[in-house]
Amino acid sequence: MTNSALLIGDVTLSDSPEHMTLVQVTDTHLTGDSDGTLLGMNTERSARQVIDAALASQQPDCVLVTGDIAADGQAAAYEQLNGFFNHRVPTLWLPGNHDDVRAQKGAYRDHLKRRIVGRHWDVLMLETQVAGKVGGYFSSAELDALQRAVADAAAGDKSLLIATHHPLRALQSTWLDEQAVSNASAALTIMQALSDRVVVVSGHVHQESDAVVQGVRMLTTPSTCIQFAPQSHDFALDDKQPGYRRIVLQPNGQIETQVIRICDEENRPLSGSSGYH
Ligand SMILES: [Fe+2]
Repeated sequence: MTNSALLIGDVTLSDSPEHMTLVQVTDTHLTGDSDGTLLGMNTERSARQVIDAALASQQPDCVLVTGDIAADGQAAAYEQLNGFFNHRVPTLWLPGNHDDVRAQKGAYRDHLKRRIVGRHWDVLMLETQVAGKVGGYFSSAELDALQRAVADAAAGDKSLLIATHHPLRALQSTWLDEQAVSNASAALTIMQALSDRVVVVSGHVHQESDAVVQGVRMLTTPSTCIQFAPQSHDFALDDKQPGYRRIVLQPNGQIETQVIRICDEENRPLSGSSGYH
């Protein structure tokens, strides 16, 4: 972990929509080439299908890509991801534990922004990656950014959507719960100034979830490739399909959200896979 923040700068969406529509895509695990697989599943094919589906209906104002873009930090994975979007929509990225985008941040600075400043909502990107570790942690720079964003949202009478890679809560899945953000309580304390006007969306756990913790709604979203079984003590695959999350941020502080899954029976993980790192 370095001291300099990876995520810098604000984004203002063109024509500042009254309802901000977002798509969350997460855990693409790309290898940089078209043959790359994760537990037997082709990650380029599945990511491309999910992203194409997400952009096929109503165009979102922005896509949030919440980490584990690369399977193992491959430099080419980030250009591979960019190719799927092909400049069709703005995209903001977070690093996950499998990523190594810091070394190339100059090339991708347009995607590594800290915040979207909206009319009724702001969207804050918070980094949880710790170099060399699987689990998540908020550095002091990230907590400072959260403090500023909460103060700005409160001053502007706005709500706040926060995106992270690692979730901020346990999901009753022992092996994954050990990897949740270990100092999430510090962030929750800061969020209390906005109480029920904060929503957190995360990746990493390759499954859909929806819970409220200390007044803060916390959502997780399926990976674009393999899925993990909920409430499992050890690693276990789920047979659910890959997908993405659609989010509409309403002017009154409410959100509409749903997970949409994509079916491709010819591109499935190997059954009986017993490990994942
Ligand atoms: Fe992850």
